Amino acid sequence: MGKPLDLKHSCYPATLLENRRITTPDAIADVRHLALSIDPKVLSYRPGDALGVWFHNDPALVEALLAELSLDGAAPVSLGDGELSLRQALSERLELTQLHPTGVRAWADLARADDLSELAADAARLRAYAGERQFIDLVAAHPARIDAGTLVGLLRPLQPRLYSIASSQAEFEDEVHLTVSVVSYQAHGRDHLGGASGFLGARVGDRDPVRVYVAENEGFRLPEDGATPVILIGAGTGVAPYRAFLQARAANGDAGRHWLVFGNRHFHRDFLYQLDWQAQRKAGRLHRVSLAFSRDDAEKRYVQHRLREEGRELLRWLEDGAHLYVCGATAMGQAVHRALLEILAGEAGLDPDAAEDYLDNLRRAARYHRDLYA
Ligand SMILES: Cc1cc2nc3c(=O)[nH]c(=O)nc-3n(C[C@H](O)[C@H](O)[C@H](O)COP(=O)(O)OP(=O)(O)OC[C@H]3O[C@@H](n4cnc5c(N)ncnc54)[C@H](O)[C@@H]3O)c2cc1C
Ligand SMILES: NC(=O)c1ccc[n+]([C@@H]2O[C@H](COP(=O)([O-])OP(=O)(O)OC[C@H]3O[C@@H](n4cnc5c(N)ncnc54)[C@H](OP(=O)(O)O)[C@@H]3O)[C@@H](O)[C@H]2O)c1
Repeated sequence: MGKPLDLKHSCYPATLLENRRITTPDAIADVRHLALSIDPKVLSYRPGDALGVWFHNDPALVEALLAELSLDGAAPVSLGDGELSLRQALSERLELTQLHPTGVRAWADLARADDLSELAADAARLRAYAGERQFIDLVAAHPARIDAGTLVGLLRPLQPRLYSIASSQAEFEDEVHLTVSVVSYQAHGRDHLGGASGFLGARVGDRDPVRVYVAENEGFRLPEDGATPVILIGAGTGVAPYRAFLQARAANGDAGRHWLVFGNRHFHRDFLYQLDWQAQRKAGRLHRVSLAFSRDDAEKRYVQHRLREEGRELLRWLEDGAHLYVCGATAMGQAVHRALLEILAGEAGLDPDAAEDYLDNLRRAARYHRDLYA
């Protein structure tokens, strides 16, 4: 058996088996369930791991940028490890969809744009400016002449993106599943697509290899004892690893109880993997489900609201030794943390320091796991 590939740069060429939208056409987010074919002798992963995905930039974006800069895509450029065409460098090697503050500063100098230089001198404004633009927005707003060599020196190397793995190899030995929310927005007079999510959601064909690697996530593992109860809290695509958890525990025949706390925008539009959860519930493996749909009612309801309402039950599960998992956006994770502190104060009568200590102890005992990102 070969050594599993898990290094960022030693990638495995997976192929696409399935790309299915799992939100309704009128849902706010276009979320995709993707199944990739892998050779389990070469690529192995565990529940909780993420998949690193290398991608190619959108050809339409590359052509638009070449046109904007009046550059010839066939021009040869060097990226340190040999020569390639500018078009290939922009497509495969350089970051176009995430704008970095250093790129804005460099462009401000090149374009001799005083307003941009002034903005770039203010770190907070610069970060905000870069955070809501792609490179093409910058160059379209501040035209300047640049040669191909200078351009490739100015752009940062393309970085892979991580996606929580939504399957267990105990059930899908030669597949890896992802739950990808396609980043798509209108701004600065153009349609924008996220680099990797646009690639995975819209551009990968079923014959194209998708270069992937496993990013191990030791801090987000199921308890060793399959009888331990688990509380799985996630909003949006943050629910992805829990599908893997339940599959793994089902395959093991584990008897532990599972409580899913899931939030998204609309029950009828984006209840991700609803059928999976129903099947797990029918099979007696999902013991409790708490849902929070933020845009179904006049008032926002988030996962932390459900937790507060069910604080007494949460405490009972924790007293029974449950492990807590939180996955999704950082703001959600922070709000859940605050809700946990309030529950410990309200239901267990702990003062603020004692409540923090309680969660610290849970974390030290590897019973409070968080996987959060911006
Ligand atoms: C450990 C981990 C696990 C993850 N798991 C998942 C997962 O399971 N599913 C999932 O979908 N994602 C997941 N992510 C996020 C994922 O890695 C990518 O960050 C995400 O898909 C966006 O990447 P992209 O290349 O498509 O977009 P990028 O090209 O990186 O563009 C994103 C950037 O676009 C800008 N932007 C976005 N929206 C707007 C807007 N409305 N207006 C202006 N600017 C905007 C922001 O600057 C943002 O940083 C995970 C991240 C981590 C770290
Ligand atoms: N696990 C992940 O994969 C992950 C984690 C974080 C971010 N992202 C990225 O975020 C983008 C969108 O992802 P998504 O639509 O799946 O999830 P999302 O934007 O995190 O939204 C999911 C749900 O969380 C709610 N929410 C917003 N703020 C909250 C808060 N402070 N506390 C609790 N809940 C809150 C949203 O409600 P409202 O919108 O109604 O306010 C929505 O109902 C994607 O591009 C993805 O890459 C992904």
